[in-house]
Amino acid sequence: MDFVGSNILSVNQFERQDLEQLFKVADTMRPYAQREKATRVLEGAILGNIFLEPSTRTRLSFGCAFDLLGGSVRETVGAAASALVKGESLYDTAWVLSGYSDVICIRHPQAGSVAEFAAASRVPVINGGDGANEHPTQALLDLYTIRKELARHDRSVDTLRIAMIGDLKYGRTVHSLCKLLCLFNKIHIVLVSPPELAMPLELIAQLREAGHTVKISEQLETAIAHVDIAYFTRVQEERFSSQQEANRFRGRLRLNRAVFTRYAEPNTVIMHPLPRDSRAEANELDPDLNGHPNLAIFRQTDNGLLVRMALFAMLLGVEGKIERHTYPVGWHSRRNLN
Ligand code: NCD
Repeated sequence: MDFVGSNILSVNQFERQDLEQLFKVADTMRPYAQREKATRVLEGAILGNIFLEPSTRTRLSFGCAFDLLGGSVRETVGAAASALVKGESLYDTAWVLSGYSDVICIRHPQAGSVAEFAAASRVPVINGGDGANEHPTQALLDLYTIRKELARHDRSVDTLRIAMIGDLKYGRTVHSLCKLLCLFNKIHIVLVSPPELAMPLELIAQLREAGHTVKISEQLETAIAHVDIAYFTRVQEERFSSQQEANRFRGRLRLNRAVFTRYAEPNTVIMHPLPRDSRAEANELDPDLNGHPNLAIFRQTDNGLLVRMALFAMLLGVEGKIERHTYPVGWHSRRNLN
C-alpha cells in the first residue's frame, strides 16, 4: 500500500508488508516520544481532530504524536460544540475542515460515517473509531504491542494464542483486531462473552477462512488457561438501548490477581484498549493487577504514541526526513516510555 496521502479507514487495507513497514518506522520514533531528541519535520502542518464521542487516549495521543513531529493540532470535541448540531452534513464539514488541515482524525458514533466524511475530504482522513465498526489505529497499536510482548519469549504472531473477553458485539477494537489477525497464520482464538454480546458471525467466519481456530466460550477461567494474550474489553454501554440493559452485562467477566495467578500461564499478557471500567459494578480488570509485570495496558498506550507518529510521518511522506529536522531537547525531561 502507498501510505502517502491515504485514508486510514479500515484495517482491511493493510497487508503484512505494510505492517512491517509501519512498525519499523514506529521503532524509530522512540527517542522523539521519550524527548531525547525533538524534530520539526512537520512544522507548519496542521492536524484537524474531530471527536464526536468521548475519548482520552485516542484524541490526545493523535494530538501529541502530531505535536512531537513538530506539527500543530486544532480540534473540535463533542457534536454539540460543532456545526453538525445545526444540521450541517458530513460532506460540508469535510470540505471545510480539509481546507484548514493537512490530515484529519475523526471519531463518530455511526458505523460508516468516517468513510462518508473521507469521500468529501481533500486531505487524508484517519478513522478514530466509527460506532461499533472499526478502530484501525487501535488495532495497529495492539498488534505492535502483541509483537513486542511475544518477542520477549521468542514468539511471533503466527501461532499466537489469544482470548478476547467482554463485549465482543459492540467492541470496535476487537473487530479491527480480528480482521488484522487474518493476515497471520495458525492463530488460536477463544472468544469469551455472554451470548448476547458475541462476536459478529461474519468476523468469526473471516477468522476461520484465514485458517484460524476459533472457540466460543462464556467461561473466563478456562479461556485464559492456555493463551499468550488475554485481551479484555469494556461493556460498550453507550451502544445499548438503555443503561439498565448494559448493566445486565457489566461485571460478568472480571479478572483479578487471584484468578490470574490461579488459571493463567506465567507468561500470559493482559491487554485492554482502555478505558477499563473501574466502577465497582464493572471492574473488568481489577486494580489489584496494577504493577503486575504481565499487565501490558500502559505499554499499549505508550506504544500508541509511536504507532500514531509513524502513521502521520508515512501519510505525509516524511519518515525519511525526520533525522534532518532534528534538534536537541533543551528542557529537562525524565520521562521513559514503558
Ligand atoms: C476504545 C474505543 O473507543 O473504542 N477506546 C480507545 O480508543 N482506546 C475502547 C472503549 O471505549 O471501550
